[in-house]
Amino acid sequence: MDLRIAGKKALMAGGSAGMGRATAERLAEAGVELYISARREERLIKAAKEISQTYATTVTPIVADSSTDEGRAILFAACPDPDIVAITIKPPDPNGDFLQVTPEMWRESIEITLLGPIEIMRHYIPQMKDKGWGRLLNIATFSAKNPMIWRLMSGPARSALINYTASVSREIAQYGVNINNILPGMFATEGSEENTAAYAKAFGLELDNDVIAEHFQQHNKIPAGFAANADDMAPMAALLCSPLSRYIVGQNIVIDGGQHNSLF
Ligand SMILES: NC(=O)c1ccc[n+]([C@@H]2O[C@H](COP(=O)([O-])OP(=O)(O)OC[C@H]3O[C@@H](n4cnc5c(N)ncnc54)[C@H](OP(=O)(O)O)[C@@H]3O)[C@@H](O)[C@H]2O)c1
Repeated sequence: MDLRIAGKKALMAGGSAGMGRATAERLAEAGVELYISARREERLIKAAKEISQTYATTVTPIVADSSTDEGRAILFAACPDPDIVAITIKPPDPNGDFLQVTPEMWRESIEITLLGPIEIMRHYIPQMKDKGWGRLLNIATFSAKNPMIWRLMSGPARSALINYTASVSREIAQYGVNINNILPGMFATEGSEENTAAYAKAFGLELDNDVIAEHFQQHNKIPAGFAANADDMAPMAALLCSPLSRYIVGQNIVIDGGQHNSLF
């Protein structure tokens, strides 16, 4: 399928690994001029080189933390006028006992997972409106609509994010600028591997891969029967970043192997 985005400028904020990288690859494959950002330089530079070589396109790496004012200033300076902006930001680690979640932890979660994406969108929307076209996509989490007691540092702030995008997307759709969100369930990514220790701690498990995997399967009950990999969501992400999604406005697409049991 031709996504009709060849030659457009696309920023994947959080594009060196996991779902961000898989999305960046689908965009590169479709012929965009690509910018990818991340905090860790070495992995970012490697990803940029690999994507550029594989898809014969320009990929500009930007070392920047999307969750801070300073990091976003670097991002905006290095990529001032993208047509497409996809965003993913790692939330704080899974929490343990909910009674131990402090105001400081809430502030950190809001700063990273709510204000980070909002500030990036708020910066880029005016130039997209002026051009008469733009696509904004958040890769957030299905715990935004499927509450999980161990994901308080991720889900609630993202529920606020999808509330924000529901309003703003309906305000800016008249200018050809769409915002949509992908809400992933359980994906085996670099990020989920890094979370293993925090997951074990949250549930009081010993740090043993078999024990954790067993608990994970029982706890999460995924109808599809497996944790996905990033390529299972990237085609949808690329579609939402294209003109083909012009009538999809302010939607939250759950990609979770059927785990969230709901009609909508
Ligand atoms: N994997 C899952 O099972 C799962 C489930 C539900 C929701 N999600 C959500 O889906 C999103 C992607 O998850 P993933 O598993 O694909 O993560 P991942 O493998 O860790 O990849 C995340 C990418 O974003 C970058 N990144 C993270 N925080 C950043 C920040 N503050 N500023 C700039 N770049 C940042 C990472 O690079 P650096 O670390 O170098 O910055 C990396 O390139 C996350 O928001 C996560 O909460 C994941």
